[in-house]
Amino acid sequence: MKTTLFKNGTVVTPSGPERISVLIEGPKIVALDPAIHSKADDIVDARGLYLLPGVVDDQVHFREPGLTHKEDLAHATRACAKGGITSFLEMPNTDPTTTTVQRLHEKLAIAAGKCLVNYGFYIGATPTNVAELATAKRTPGIKIFIGSSTGDLLVDDQDALERIFAETNLPICAHCEDETTVRSNQARLAGAADVATHSKVRDHQAAVIATRRAIDLATRHRHQFHILHVSTADEIPLIRSAPHWVTAEVCPHYLLFSVDDYGRLGSLIKMNPSIKTRVDNAALWQALLDGIVRVIATDHAPHTLQEKALPYPQCPSGLPAVENSLALMLNQVNSGRCTLPQVVSWMCQAPAEIWHLQGKGKIEVGYDADLVLVDMNLALTIRNEEQQTKSRWSPWHGETLTGWPVRTWVMGQEVFRREGERLWFGAANAGQEIRFHPDRANRTRA
Ligand code: DOR
Repeated sequence: MKTTLFKNGTVVTPSGPERISVLIEGPKIVALDPAIHSKADDIVDARGLYLLPGVVDDQVHFREPGLTHKEDLAHATRACAKGGITSFLEMPNTDPTTTTVQRLHEKLAIAAGKCLVNYGFYIGATPTNVAELATAKRTPGIKIFIGSSTGDLLVDDQDALERIFAETNLPICAHCEDETTVRSNQARLAGAADVATHSKVRDHQAAVIATRRAIDLATRHRHQFHILHVSTADEIPLIRSAPHWVTAEVCPHYLLFSVDDYGRLGSLIKMNPSIKTRVDNAALWQALLDGIVRVIATDHAPHTLQEKALPYPQCPSGLPAVENSLALMLNQVNSGRCTLPQVVSWMCQAPAEIWHLQGKGKIEVGYDADLVLVDMNLALTIRNEEQQTKSRWSPWHGETLTGWPVRTWVMGQEVFRREGERLWFGAANAGQEIRFHPDRANRTRA
């Protein structure tokens, strides 16, 4: 099998940054050693660069099947490779929705041979599909929309929620915004044409009520549970006092955008949950630094610019982010807000652990050779026209970030290289179906 030796770089291992060499053979990391001078088929001189484990993005919407005018697996996984994301877990609100084992297997078959990076797909909960949720295996877990968002997936009924937590053994994650609160705010604010209204419709209360409700379910049923895209300061105390089997994540847009940005960006930052205030931004940062929120994911949710230009409230919610999320965080490292090992923990190691991914999230012997080489000194400006996502825009268009992925490997195969202005992409079948620890069912019940 082909061997590649990475030398002269700084490698971010679970013990921190180290000046060591890394040898990979085929799809695996086979040696970490300061003294490897062995011959290899390929030598990567990583002088001045950092080698990180590939990013695991546990929340993306890639729109295939059914909504491929917005995004598809070919474009989205090129965007991932460029952004340093080597594994993604995709949400079930495609068309058709991924709500049966058969549809899950169909989605896996669609992805086979088409993805530059590794793939996994959630199974979506409905009020009546608990038998499907209980038998699904080739999936990271169950996604519940406790509040509705893009698409029509919704489980709001308490008895249905109790059954899902009681009768299934996969990890569960949820979109937590309270449907009743959102609908009553919607009725009260009907007619408002300003997109900033979105943050009053999907307000702090909506997030807090649903997060509290979901934590209560997970606590009583002792069921592993992950809170997707936390957006408010008010949810942090709930997460802090939740049992250890409850985890949480935040997204770059909840750290970096606030309601003050609606004037500049309008519906481009219309998201569910909504963007909140600068006070919330600061509290979410602190929760990451304190280890209360453990994961950063993108919630990459592309819509076309034409769709986003519709007037409020018709303009859809969601923004694309996979190709810039790592750079956005590396830029924060450069501005002193966090460290590189923290970014690796939030974006690589923690999501791999939480979702029981086999061989992912760390640079360690025996782990998969999913690697990203980053140049912490490279400054680049994000441009819509250079985006690989099929939607071809970014809410960060025009922003210059320092710290970028320059090369990415998936299962030992190079899938992306930046050569100055030129971008090179590898074979579109490098990505593999993600495997989960065989005993994870024993780990999802406390
Ligand atoms: O803003 C959002 N858009 N939030 C979601 O939860 C879904 C997503 C989408 O699929 O468009």
